[in-house]
Amino acid sequence: MSGSTTPFFFIQLSDPQFGLFEVRGAAPGDGTFPETALYEEAIAAAKRLRPAFVVVTGDLVQDSDSDEQHAELTRITGQLDGDIPIYFTTGNCDVGNTPTAESLRIYRAKFGRDSYSFDAGGSHFVVLNSSVCLDPSEVPEEWDSLVEFLRRDLDVHSPDSTHTIVFMHHPLFGKSADEPDDGIAIIPRERRRIILDLLRKHETSGVFAGHWHRNNYAADGKMLMVVSGPVGFPLGDDPSGLRIVKVYDDRVEHEYFGMDDVPIRVDL
Ligand SMILES: [Fe+2]
Repeated sequence: MSGSTTPFFFIQLSDPQFGLFEVRGAAPGDGTFPETALYEEAIAAAKRLRPAFVVVTGDLVQDSDSDEQHAELTRITGQLDGDIPIYFTTGNCDVGNTPTAESLRIYRAKFGRDSYSFDAGGSHFVVLNSSVCLDPSEVPEEWDSLVEFLRRDLDVHSPDSTHTIVFMHHPLFGKSADEPDDGIAIIPRERRRIILDLLRKHETSGVFAGHWHRNNYAADGKMLMVVSGPVGFPLGDDPSGLRIVKVYDDRVEHEYFGMDDVPIRVDL
């Protein structure tokens, strides 16, 4: 922990996932994406509210081979003012639940980094490729390098940061840190334990994920484990929307808003 910093906020978007409405039989069938209006609303909200940054926690598109879906994602992302950074996180639709050397190569060619970190407002933010954490059986060396990256990154940056916050697509857990494995829903215990050990050591304030297309809230001690509903197609009771996260010296506050209920401004 460092000295006092000015409060700020960021916006989490998850699962814009261009193409899922169509897969679910909920698209008009004329080649347009219902996701377009939703992602445009989310980007317009960011332009209005002016967060320190925007993060998109994975499942950027439904079909990672689709040029049309990527083109729409890129076109609308470009509507964001150049001075508001936007950070992308991989999802299972982007690189697979069992990523391969090829799926990672293609993602990196399009988006660059998949596990990386950045600083904002005196806090440190880490983006992890959670598919590598879910099932690295095809790319075991990627898991080794992810753990090494996380270990070194937190050792270097976390001690001087007010908060350390992690972004990943798959949640680490849904109820409690030691809950049993649950298929592709959460990170298996074998690797969850290794990540949690590092996050606990550095007193991580929160992990923000997506993947479930609905909200879910849990914690590990003081560390929040937040799952956010989708920008795109909902798979639960929560509407398409976005999460506003306020970062203060002594706490992190967050709230999910359906796209029709996003506030006019954010007060800190
Ligand atoms: Fe998704």
